Amino acid sequence: MDVTTTIHQRRACRSFDHFRITQDLIVDLSHHAQLAPSRFSNQSWQFVFVYDTKTINELYEALSSGNAWAKDASMIIVVHCKKTDDCVIHDRKYFLFDSGLATAFLILRATELGLVVHPIAGFSPTKTREILNIPEDHEVITLVIVGKHASIIKSVLSEKQSRDEQSRPPRYPLTDFISYNRYGHRNHDG
Ligand SMILES: Cc1cc2nc3c(=O)[nH]c(=O)nc-3n(C[C@H](O)[C@H](O)[C@H](O)COP(=O)(O)O)c2cc1C
Repeated sequence: MDVTTTIHQRRACRSFDHFRITQDLIVDLSHHAQLAPSRFSNQSWQFVFVYDTKTINELYEALSSGNAWAKDASMIIVVHCKKTDDCVIHDRKYFLFDSGLATAFLILRATELGLVVHPIAGFSPTKTREILNIPEDHEVITLVIVGKHASIIKSVLSEKQSRDEQSRPPRYPLTDFISYNRYGHRNHDG
């Protein structure tokens, strides 16, 4: 799959079938994540791959109620990083930016492998940190829910989630978020 196809293929789906997680998969995803650019090559990203039944069941307790669908995950990837592992210039937090880039690389590779890879913000970082023993000075940024896409829509999904499962939520038009040459210039010809 080329990059364009992979980007179009990626969807934040919420209905999963279980599949077996192998070390090869984890190493493969990690190799792709580590090729992301980072400021001064600081590589601030860190991941905990959670897939053993006991730990993943514990981690389900950290999910917000709207993310109950994620309990069908075969793996949850916890993205965390330490502020001092990359720089913060005034209020520009590159430790977060660089970890986000690495997570995007990981998501695209997993998509290419035919998986659903869904980042979420609806979880408790405090509970996640406690369950996994992540140090206090690390920010737990996101959980990435990994599964095989189910052919049916699971009943745990809300009405909106079911709609989103079937078609991608609309995007803002380009004119809302791109400028040509100067901020606010919405046309190529000035
Ligand atoms: C940082 C981040 C946080 C998100 N948090 C949640 C979440 O808590 N629950 C959820 O169901 N989806 C969550 N999503 C998924 C978005 O809802 C989804 O990406 C968006 O609706 C666009 O759909 P698409 O990814 O299928 O194009 C999150 C996505 C990102 C990038």
